[in-house]
Amino acid sequence: MFARFKKAGSSRPAEAPPPQATATAKAAAAPRATAGTAPPPPISPVASNPPQSRSQPPRPTAEAVAADKERKRKAKLGEVKVELHKRLLENLNLSALEHATEADLRAEIASIASEALNEMSMVLNKDERLALNQELYFEVMGLGPLEPLLKDDTVNDILVNGPHRIFVERNGRLQLTDITFKDEKHLLRIIDKIVSAVGRRVDESNPYVDARLADGSRFNAMVPPVAVDGSLVSIRKFKKEKLGVSDLVRFGAFSEAMAAYLEAAVATRLNIIVSGGTGSGKTTTLNALSSFIDNAERILTIEDTAELQLQQTHVGRMESRPPNVEGKGAVTQRDCLRNALRMRPDRIIVGETRGEEVIDMLQAMNTGHDGSMTTIHANSARDAVSRLENMIAMSGIEMPTKAVRSQIASAVNLIVQVNRLQDGSRRMTSITEVTGMEGEVITMQEIFRYERLGLEPDGAIIGRFTAAGVRSHFAERFRQWGYDLPASIYEPA
Ligand SMILES: Nc1ncnc2c1ncn2[C@@H]1O[C@H](COP(=O)(O)OP(=O)(O)OP(=O)(O)O)[C@@H](O)[C@H]1O
Ligand SMILES: [Mg+2]
Repeated sequence: MFARFKKAGSSRPAEAPPPQATATAKAAAAPRATAGTAPPPPISPVASNPPQSRSQPPRPTAEAVAADKERKRKAKLGEVKVELHKRLLENLNLSALEHATEADLRAEIASIASEALNEMSMVLNKDERLALNQELYFEVMGLGPLEPLLKDDTVNDILVNGPHRIFVERNGRLQLTDITFKDEKHLLRIIDKIVSAVGRRVDESNPYVDARLADGSRFNAMVPPVAVDGSLVSIRKFKKEKLGVSDLVRFGAFSEAMAAYLEAAVATRLNIIVSGGTGSGKTTTLNALSSFIDNAERILTIEDTAELQLQQTHVGRMESRPPNVEGKGAVTQRDCLRNALRMRPDRIIVGETRGEEVIDMLQAMNTGHDGSMTTIHANSARDAVSRLENMIAMSGIEMPTKAVRSQIASAVNLIVQVNRLQDGSRRMTSITEVTGMEGEVITMQEIFRYERLGLEPDGAIIGRFTAAGVRSHFAERFRQWGYDLPASIYEPA
C-alpha cells in the first residue's frame, strides 16, 4: 500500500531504518538526551538537604523506579516520533497524496508507523498508538503540532515564537500553550511545507513570507537569522462565520444607535475609513459595515489577503500577488485598484490602504465611486488623516499640503475608529465625520464615542457608548435617502 505513495527512486526504504537512526532512538532512552523535552529534573540530593544525603544514600522507591521507566519510555517515544515524521516526509510522494482519500492515507500512515515501531522494539498501548497516528497524519497533511489549534474554534490567532513557545489568542487575551515543536528544524520543516504548498519559498535569503492557507487563514512567517530566537509565525484564523452587525452589538463592540447611524452612512454612500491598530477588528468591522450595502450594487473588493466575505450577489474579489521566487509577476493593490476603475464598480472596498494605492483610492472616492470603504492602521481619526497624508507624500507625488488635505477632506466622509482595549475587548471607540476644510486644517466632528468609566476588580473595563451631542453633518442627506434618524440618537447618554 505504501508503495503507491512512495517517492519514485526514494533511496531509503521505510522498512529499514538507517543504523544511526536506531542509534539515536536508543541513545534517547538515556535521561541525558531528554533535556529538550523538559522532563522533571533528576532528584539531586546536593544542596537542599545535605545531612540526609550523607547519612542515607537515596534508595529509589518503587514509584520512583516506575516513574523513571515511564520517563525514559516517553523520551524514547519522542525520538521515535521524530524519526517517523522524518521518514514519512522523506519517503512519501506528496503529489500522489493529493489524490489519496483521508482513510487511505491514515491507514497507510498507521501501517508505516507500526512497521517502524516493531523495528525499534517499541510497544505502545492503543491510546498511544492512536495519538501517534493522529500526530503523524497532521505532520504529513497539516501543520503538525499547530493542527489542533487550527481546529479549535475558540482560538483567533496562533503566534509561534520559536519552537518552544506557542501562544494563542482567545477572547482578546494571549495565552501560552503547552504545545511545542520538537526543535527549530521541526518548526522550519512545517513552515517550509506551508509556503511551498502556495508556491513560495522561505530561507536565509528570503527570510519572511506572507501567505493565505488553504482554509483562508492568514499566515506569516519569518525565519532566522532575521528572527533571532527561532522562527516567528503568526496565523490569523479564518472564521467561517464572520461577526455580523448584530453580533458586534451583542458583544458590546458598538451600540444600537451607532449601528443605526452606520447603516444610514453606508446606505447613503458615504466614503468610510475604518481606522485601528493591529488586530483591533478593522477587517471585521469593514465586513460588518458592508452588510448595509444594497444587494443590487456591484462591489469590487481588493485585498492583500482575501478575508472579506460579502453577502451580496454582485461581488468581484481581487487579491494582490507578491513577486514569485525570481522577483517577477507581482500584482499590487494599486494595479488591482486601477484596473477595478475600468470594471464599472458601484463601490470599491480596499482591505487595507497602506501604500501607493492611497492616491487611487482617494481619486476613486472623489470621482463617482462614492460609498467606497477601506481600513487604515492608525490610532485616532486625526492620526488616520495624517497617515493618509504621509502615504501620499511617500508615494512620490509632490503636492502642496493644502491640496493634499483638500483631496482627503473631499474624499473621506467618515472615520470609524476601532481599538482593542487593555482588557482584550474590541470596541468602536469613536465615529468621526470629516466636514471640510478651514484654512489648511481638515475639520472633523465626533458623533459617537466610547467613554471609560472605571475598572472591574478583574481588570475588565467599565464604559459606555455615548453620542457627542452634535447633529450629523449628513443628517439632511440621510433624510433625503429615507434614513430619518431620530434626533435623540445624537443626544449624549
Ligand atoms: N468586536 C469583536 N469581538 C470579538 N472578537 C472580535 C471583534 N472584532 C474582531 N474580532 C476578532 O478579532 C480578530 C482580529 O480581527 P480583525 O482581523 O478584524 O482585525 P484587524 O484589525 O483587521 O487585524 P489586522 O491588523 O491583522 O488586519 C479576529 O479573529 C476577529 O474575529
Ligand atoms: Mg485586517
